[in-house]
Amino acid sequence: MTETQNTNSTGQAMMRMTIGIVVLAVLTAVLYFAAPDSFYPWAKAIHILAVISWMAGMLYLPRLLVYHTDAEKGSVQSETFKVMERRLLRGIINPAMIVTWVFGLWLAWKGFGFQGGWLHAKIGAVLLLSAMHGYLAGAVRKFAEDRNEKSAKHWRIVNEIPTLLMIAIVILVVVKPF
Ligand code: HEM
Repeated sequence: MTETQNTNSTGQAMMRMTIGIVVLAVLTAVLYFAAPDSFYPWAKAIHILAVISWMAGMLYLPRLLVYHTDAEKGSVQSETFKVMERRLLRGIINPAMIVTWVFGLWLAWKGFGFQGGWLHAKIGAVLLLSAMHGYLAGAVRKFAEDRNEKSAKHWRIVNEIPTLLMIAIVILVVVKPF
């Protein structure tokens, strides 16, 4: 892919993300003003949809990095992985994380006044997940510049971390054990 095609596709991804966020903001405002009393479950539904999208990307991206490590630098396969990784990160993972945080924090404030051991532990686990998100974004940048030095085994191990955090987060919010 040429530099110009690269810039165009990044511009298009940014445009789609902006349109998506504006549509969601309008929908949220309509739901809030049309039925303020039932807004909490609506906000929870949007939060869960965003969580599903974020997690789908967080579980798939390290798997792509495993395959990418095995592809020869400069090969067609390697260049294809670069496009897949960039689109997954910018088109799905980044916006989904923002929506998850915005609605999650609103639910935590409105429903629980930010109180509860389970909630504090959950926010801690989500901060770790967000740090992992940052680490993966950095890795996508390195792979894009053919500067990855980590082994496929490293990315296989990294692949397990979002899974473990997801299990802990879901148990904390559903079971609320403390
Ligand atoms: C970004 C920080 C986050 C905050 C502050 C947050 C906070 C919350 C709050 C307060 C609720 C409502 C709980 C209730 O009404 O009982 C909720 C629901 C939920 N959250 Fe999050 N959340 C965040 C991120 C996540 C993530 C990353 C996941 C999954 C990996 C997740 C999974 C869920 C699920 C499954 C529910 C529905 C639970 C139920 O209704 O029983 N959340 N979240």
